[in-house]
Amino acid sequence: MTANKTNDVSASSPVGVFDSGVGGLTVLRELTRILPCEDFIYYGDVKNAPYGALSHDEIRRRSLEIAGELIGMGAKAIVVACNTATAAAVEAMRAAYPQIPIIGTEPAVKPAADAGHRHILVLATPVTVAEERFSALIHSRCGTAEVIAVPCPGLATMIEEGHTSDELICKYLDGIFAPLRGKFDAVVLGCTHYPLARVAISRAAGGDIPVYDGAAGTARQAARRISGSGLGAPGDKHGSVRFLSSGDAGKIGAFYEGICHEA
Ligand code: DGL
Repeated sequence: MTANKTNDVSASSPVGVFDSGVGGLTVLRELTRILPCEDFIYYGDVKNAPYGALSHDEIRRRSLEIAGELIGMGAKAIVVACNTATAAAVEAMRAAYPQIPIIGTEPAVKPAADAGHRHILVLATPVTVAEERFSALIHSRCGTAEVIAVPCPGLATMIEEGHTSDELICKYLDGIFAPLRGKFDAVVLGCTHYPLARVAISRAAGGDIPVYDGAAGTARQAARRISGSGLGAPGDKHGSVRFLSSGDAGKIGAFYEGICHEA
């Protein structure tokens, strides 16, 4: 990624979005739906993926570097389209770059609790469930609902590699859900990769169990923060999306085309 040095932003500046790979595209898709006039720069850090297998400090270091580069490229806001990077690094990013809004992605436990579910299963990376931010979210947003947090090592990588509905992922998911049968009434997808395998996850969960993810909520929060800072793109503009990566940016762009057509 080549950054320019200016920090000046205006309404026509782009919004930076990043994840370890293709997972954050589920958030980008919602962002482009509700902010069609904005330009987005999406960065997929595939060379350092999966974040769920890195240490807290490694995730923080990468997140700060990527945010710095996106800001150097003129980003007027950053959307951390990754639950793991949000859990480990969003506070450090906000402290390091107080000049622009930095919006995180959190597991959608609040919508699930607000809908009246009493036993909420959260699937997320091992890092996300181990972070204090995740425990704080549950304590502050779930009232008396029980939250069962299930770390899913390897699941994001499987999805990144295209296993979204085949035998490999179905077996993995059966292994996750088998000991939990009858113990939950909602599932929260606490990793932005997981909605890409929503059909398989929903089937493994039992079919009629509601499944929540944080993409739309994150996009709405980003829209509020961008317009709240007076930086919303002019309404007569047609927004664009540009893909960058520490690996193959073309692959990420092609993946995005695919999920937009599917939707
Ligand atoms: N998509 C990411 C998340 O939301 C991270 C997956 C990974 O790289 O482990 O947690």
